[in-house]
Amino acid sequence: MYLGVDYYPEHWDVSMIDEDMQRMKEMGVNIIRIGEFAWHLMEKKEGEYDFSYFDMVIRKAQKYDLKVIFGTPTATFPAWLAKKHPSILSKDEYGHTRVFGGRRQYCYNSEVYREYTKKIVQKLVNHYKDEESIIVWQIDNEFGHEGSDMCFCEQCHLKFREFLQEKYKDINNLNEVYGTIFWGQTYNDFDEIPLPQPTITTHNPTLRLDWARFRSYSINDYAKMQINLVRELKGKHQKITHNFYGGFFEKAYDQNVMSEDLDFVSYDNYPVWGGLREPLKPGHIAMTHDYVRGLKNKNYWIVEELMGAQGHNVIGYLPRPNQAKMWAYQAMAHGCENMLFFRWRGMTRGAEQFCLGIIDHDNEDGRKFKEVQSFMKDVIKYEEVIKSEIKSDIAVLYDYDNIWSWHYQQQSSQFNFTDELVRLYTPFYNLNTNIDVISTSKDFFKYKVLVVPVMKIIDEKLGRRFEEFLQKGGTIIFSFRSGIKDRDNNINFEEVFPCKVRKIAGIKIKEAEALQKGQEVEIIGLNKYNGKKGKCSVWRDLIIPETARVLYRYNDKFYKENACITENKYGKGKVYYVGGGIDIKILNDIAKEIVVENNIRYIESPEGLEVYIRDYNNEEWLFINNHTDEDIEFNGIIIEPYGSEIVKRCV
Ligand code: GLA
Ligand code: ZN
Repeated sequence: MYLGVDYYPEHWDVSMIDEDMQRMKEMGVNIIRIGEFAWHLMEKKEGEYDFSYFDMVIRKAQKYDLKVIFGTPTATFPAWLAKKHPSILSKDEYGHTRVFGGRRQYCYNSEVYREYTKKIVQKLVNHYKDEESIIVWQIDNEFGHEGSDMCFCEQCHLKFREFLQEKYKDINNLNEVYGTIFWGQTYNDFDEIPLPQPTITTHNPTLRLDWARFRSYSINDYAKMQINLVRELKGKHQKITHNFYGGFFEKAYDQNVMSEDLDFVSYDNYPVWGGLREPLKPGHIAMTHDYVRGLKNKNYWIVEELMGAQGHNVIGYLPRPNQAKMWAYQAMAHGCENMLFFRWRGMTRGAEQFCLGIIDHDNEDGRKFKEVQSFMKDVIKYEEVIKSEIKSDIAVLYDYDNIWSWHYQQQSSQFNFTDELVRLYTPFYNLNTNIDVISTSKDFFKYKVLVVPVMKIIDEKLGRRFEEFLQKGGTIIFSFRSGIKDRDNNINFEEVFPCKVRKIAGIKIKEAEALQKGQEVEIIGLNKYNGKKGKCSVWRDLIIPETARVLYRYNDKFYKENACITENKYGKGKVYYVGGGIDIKILNDIAKEIVVENNIRYIESPEGLEVYIRDYNNEEWLFINNHTDEDIEFNGIIIEPYGSEIVKRCV
């Protein structure tokens, strides 16, 4: 097991390296990540490559028996390159050039940038391909993050038109699919197609979905170029990874594509960042881990585990004592096998002066040093358990076309895709079940239950796969607006909602409405939920049951006859349809019913106490994490505030 820190020796006087590495060893470190922003240090002037500084750092690392992850430095190009070739700079939606000074401002479609990328990567990897200490190459850093998924430059415009021509072949085909007859937008040629830049009212929905697809393609195409080059040049002992970030559903970037070319996926785990008042909810953090594991259906690395409060110009919540350590344990529970903490020491100069790490600006071994030290010393004892495979009976499905369709047309001002996916994920998380979070592009027939949040786009093929899944005895839970659109982001014609799933759900939906900020509609339980009451927010589908049984109905003047939550037996399986943003209490009951009915392993635990089950050597191990600031008793042990325990389950 590798446990380490993100280290930037170039930020400090060279005389500090030995002491730093001695203290790292004392803390339990056996690996460091370096180099991902140091292009200028390796090429101060064009063509003058000099790796002597990092040669020295690697010699030191060897002396302290530290392995190395080396980052290709293309996230931060040198000023001389921007000066010589301003065309590499990306442009925002208003066409303004993103000037040199931040990071990630390059255009993925800049041929010039791709050439300079090839040169620095070739020189770097050739220089270190036989370096035994370097065991991993990290490609660039957080592709698509901080707004860098978007570029509205001329190069991207040309490439976008080529992308569309390749897809539609004939402009009339595009006009037909887009419905450009609407508002007289019919194109005579691909070179008339605009970038979806700010306009009066809003752009064509299919154009916007194609634009998101193109952005994702651009990032993955640039990444693939770099990955292929590193794979061709690197040493056999060296692996390739890339570090993804947590806001993945908010970006025009499908990370599944690049993940196929990586040896393993890495993740940057920041449960709280910037000016947040409080961290993400425990279930949300857990979901991000299950998503990252789902990219390759494999355990993963974390190359940036938050330890210090941080943000660029604004910071917020300070992780309480042991809370950041507990998040590290939670990550290990969910499939992280090797972990590096961000960052060894907080920098005193530059844009990340407030991105604190383990050691603060006073350079003393404080509370955080001791927390990481105790974590590293403890977690290594469970290496074999942590490396075991996680097998889940439940899969939460997402589809990036669907996500991007929602991104451009939220329909409800209160809608946020991530929130709606977490809404359906959390009830199963609360039962401490193992859950995979995977793309619809993955095979999902091995699961017992599919959780399918707000899947607006369901095409024929996906609809058939759901039907087949039910024939085999599976259970599916859909939520609102399912199936209203086709893969072109157009609303289905002469099909009653929820299209493609009406039969299996046993319902139809003729009307619906968006609910506004603070607006909640009461729902009441029927049949087995008789007497229960709940709330619906964000949206409501006014369901008319056909073969389905009503579990909850609305309780307001005109819509008492409409169902809100239904269940329907279909094939050998069952379909639940949740017609709105339903509160967690109601969903907890339904999740419990589904888990019990499908004989899925679960553990009941007090709220805020996460108990993740890992299977190893025919034994069950419990990773217990207290996400609250109170002592919690569980199975005869008291878990302290933000405490973590790893125990073998006595059955
Ligand atoms: C991201 C980046 C790091 C650093 C941290 C700061 O994860 O990958 O380089 O900027 O954020 O929190
Ligand atoms: Zn561009």
